Amino acid sequence: MSAPLHAVILAAGEGTRLGGAVPKVVTPLWGRPSAAYTLLAARSLDPARVIVVAGKRREFLDEALAPYGVSNEDIVQQDPARGTGDAVLTARSALAGRTGHLVVLYGDCPLVTPELLETLVAEHRSHAAVITLLTVSLADPTGYGRIVRDDGGLVAEIVEQADASATVREIDEVNTGVWVIDMPWAFEQLAQLGTDNAQGEVYLTDLAARARAEGLSVAAVRWHDPTDVVGFNTQAELGVVRRVLRQRILEGHAAAGVEIVDPDTTFIDAEVEIEPGARILPCTMIEGQTRIASGCEVGPFSHVRTGTVMEAGSAIGNFTETKKTTLGAGAKAKHLTYLGDAVVGPKSNIGAGTITANYDGTHKHATTIGAGVFVGSGTVIVAPAQIDDGATTGAGAILTGNSHVGPGEVWVGVPAKPLHKPEPSA
Ligand code: UD1
Ligand code: CA
Repeated sequence: MSAPLHAVILAAGEGTRLGGAVPKVVTPLWGRPSAAYTLLAARSLDPARVIVVAGKRREFLDEALAPYGVSNEDIVQQDPARGTGDAVLTARSALAGRTGHLVVLYGDCPLVTPELLETLVAEHRSHAAVITLLTVSLADPTGYGRIVRDDGGLVAEIVEQADASATVREIDEVNTGVWVIDMPWAFEQLAQLGTDNAQGEVYLTDLAARARAEGLSVAAVRWHDPTDVVGFNTQAELGVVRRVLRQRILEGHAAAGVEIVDPDTTFIDAEVEIEPGARILPCTMIEGQTRIASGCEVGPFSHVRTGTVMEAGSAIGNFTETKKTTLGAGAKAKHLTYLGDAVVGPKSNIGAGTITANYDGTHKHATTIGAGVFVGSGTVIVAPAQIDDGATTGAGAILTGNSHVGPGEVWVGVPAKPLHKPEPSA
C-alpha cells in the first residue's frame, strides 16, 4: 500500500493589488471562487484530507467553500500571515498524528490541473526525495523564486526575487509553488525555520536548502505549460486566468457533445450542467446553478441566470432573461422576455415581450404557469400569479397581483379579466 496523501491550500494572502472587496482567493471566476478550482483539482487525487489555510477574513472562505463541502474543521486560520512556510505549518494541528505525503497548493492558482498533480505525485512516490516540486521556465521570471541547481543539475536551493543576486535573477527556471513533501519531516523542519530574509517571512522555499543540508534529495518536475500554474495579482492577470478557464469550460461541454455554435461569444459558468444534444447559439451567457437538458436551444442573445432549469426540448431565444425559472419540456420563450421566480409547464408558449414582474420593491414573488398555456405577446404578469393548464392571455394583457387564470380560461385587457366564463355544467 502506498503512503497516504493529504493536501493543503494556502489562501491567507489578502491580494491587495486586486483592489477588491473580498480576499483574492474567493474571487469568483465564472461563478466559482478561485480557491474552489484548486480544491477540486486537489480532490481529484483522492487525498485523505484537504486543509485550507485562511487569513484575516476567514468568514469569506467559510462561505465561499461551504457549497463545496468544506466544513469548519477543514479550514485553519493563519493570522497574521507570516509567509508560505508558516502557512503550511498552520495546517499541522489539523493533520496531527497523520503521516504520508502532503500536496501544497496556492488558492490563487486556479488553473492547476488534475493531470499536473497526478504527474507530480507519481514522481514523488517513485523517488526517495523529501520534496518534489513543480518548476517552469519563464521568458520573464521577475517576481518568482528562482531554482538554483548544483553542478550535478540537482535542486540546491530556491532564492526569492527579493533575496536574489543579479546572477540568480538571470535564472529563468522558477518555483511554481506546487509541491509534494514528506509530511512529518516537513512540519518538523518548518517549525525550525527563521525569518532572516528580505521579506521577514517564513519561506516554504527554504525547505529545499534544508533538505540538501541534511543529505536528503529534492526532486523537480519541469512542467511544459506555464499557463497551468499562472496566479493572479492584478486585474490584468485575472483577465488572463478568466480567459483560460472560460476556454476550458467551453471545451469540456463541446467534448461532451454540446453544440456551441460560436465559442467566441458564449460565456458559461463553471457549475452549469448541460446535457449532450443541447444547442447553444451565439452571444449567450449562462450563469450559476443552471441545468439544461438534451434537445434544448439557448440563444442567440440570451441571458440565462442562476436557478434556471430547462427540461428536454425547451427553448430560450433572443433577448430573453431567465432567473430561478423552470421551463418544462418543449416550453418556449423565444423573444424579448423576462422570466424570474417562475415555473412554466410543458409545451407552454411565452409570447414576445412577456414580463414576470416578480419584485414589488421589497420581496420576490412566484409565477406558476401550467402546461400548454399560451401567453400572448406583451403580457405583464404581476407576481404572485397562477395560470392554469391550457389557459390563454391576450396580447398586452396585464395580470395584476394574485391573479389566478383557471384551466382553459382566456384573460385579456388591462387589468386582465376573463373573456368569458366556461359554461356552467348542468
Ligand atoms: C511564492 C513563492 C515563490 C514562487 C511564487 C509562485 C515562497 C516564499 N515564495 O511567492 O518561490 O515563485 O509563490 O507564485 O513560497 N500565503 C499564505 N500565507 C502567507 C503567505 C502567503 O497563505 O503567510 C498564500 C497566499 O494566499 C498565496 C500563496 O500563499 O495563495 C503564495 O503567496 P504569495 O505571497 O503570492 O507568494 P509569492 O511572493 O508570490
Ligand atoms: Ca503569488
